[in-house]
Amino acid sequence: MCRLAYSFIFALQCLALSLQLSGHDQNEFPQKAEQLAVPLGLTPIPWPKDDPYSAKKAQLGRILYFDKRLSSDGTIACASCHQVQRAFTDNLPVAKGVHGRTGTRHAPTIINSAYNRTQFWDGRANSLEDQCKGPIANINEMSLNPDVEKTYRECELRLYKIEGYRKLFKEAFGHDKITIDDIAKALATFERTILSGNSPYDKYMAGDKTAMNTEQLQGYQVFKKYGCTNCHFGPNFTDGRFINVGIGMDAKNPDLGRFEVTHNQNDWGAFKIPTLREVKFTYPYMHNGSVKTLEDVIDYYGKGVIKNKNLNPLIHPLHLTNDEKKALVSFLEALSGEGWEHFAPPAEFPK
Ligand code: HEC
Ligand code: HEC
Repeated sequence: MCRLAYSFIFALQCLALSLQLSGHDQNEFPQKAEQLAVPLGLTPIPWPKDDPYSAKKAQLGRILYFDKRLSSDGTIACASCHQVQRAFTDNLPVAKGVHGRTGTRHAPTIINSAYNRTQFWDGRANSLEDQCKGPIANINEMSLNPDVEKTYRECELRLYKIEGYRKLFKEAFGHDKITIDDIAKALATFERTILSGNSPYDKYMAGDKTAMNTEQLQGYQVFKKYGCTNCHFGPNFTDGRFINVGIGMDAKNPDLGRFEVTHNQNDWGAFKIPTLREVKFTYPYMHNGSVKTLEDVIDYYGKGVIKNKNLNPLIHPLHLTNDEKKALVSFLEALSGEGWEHFAPPAEFPK
């Protein structure tokens, strides 16, 4: 039995090697969801019943993700604002869309977004499928037409006119149409495969006591001691709640975040607790991108919190020492891992 398993693994390795040698696309997806590599520290990818994994959908989603023809003037792709080499963000305070138009919020990373209970800083989308349709019809992102339904029909038609896409959609969904819902399903399937784990922190937690250096270990203690773990915890360093930490609340007309979705006073000025994975690369920080560096984030929690009527009681100046601040930054940097950096645009887009 054991020998059989070994020879099976050996055969798989040979297959993988020969695929690599034959210059096969590095971003090829495996046939079964169970074959997707989930990095250390993460839980299995939650696949929804109405959009289960398939290699064809993931592959199509990846192509759509990088294709600027999803935008109405052909200038912006999802990947314009969520860039692979920037850990799926854009490193701008607020995102820049078609015709250089800007919104009011910072583009969050989409790494590990499979695990988000809701999407967007205010959680207004309940699934990745829902979420994907947002930017396509957003006039500050990918659309020049304020009419949402019209934008969708235009996008469907634009793709339908491309023979290569007709073929890919048919293979992925089994029918001859291209619908906005199928576009969203393919994109969401791809997004669920963009992961980050196996960081020094994960290796440490799995028993490798040398994986984090002394400063990072000290930072981990500070992280726990000052209650960061009240909000940033679990495999993705967030439990998905909405919290007012004060950011932006001193503005004349502050972005009210979750309140604008629920109209519940408890949600006034509250934003989704963001993941801290790859946080070293996802600057600038916070929903409005107003905080430039990790040192500045720590200074904010350390002494600068912006008081307002709904500030979460756990948020108050912490009076950290300089050593504690440095250690905390080092710890946050130990949350960089792998599982996302290999994604690349297709060699050729469908024609
Ligand atoms: C013009 C820049 C821009 C483009 C293009 C864009 N996004 Fe975004 N994305 C953003 C911004 C800004 C937000 C946050 C908006 C908010 O919270 O209100 C966001 C949020 C998200 C989120 C939510 C992540 C979370 O943690 O809540 C996901 C997922 C996402 N985008 C995926 C996509 C996909 C897929 C596409 C292509 C269909 C796309 N984005 C196109 C800027 C962009
Ligand atoms: C009461 C809940 C809570 C606590 C405690 C908390 N945070 Fe946060 N954290 C949040 C929320 C919510 C945001 C996003 C706020 C916004 O954008 O308005 C955030 C944002 C961040 C960000 C920026 C991430 C990004 O991608 O923009 C970092 C880094 C961070 N927190 C680290 C920490 C550290 C370190 C501590 C402990 C000193 C801590 N947090 C304590 C809720 C909390």
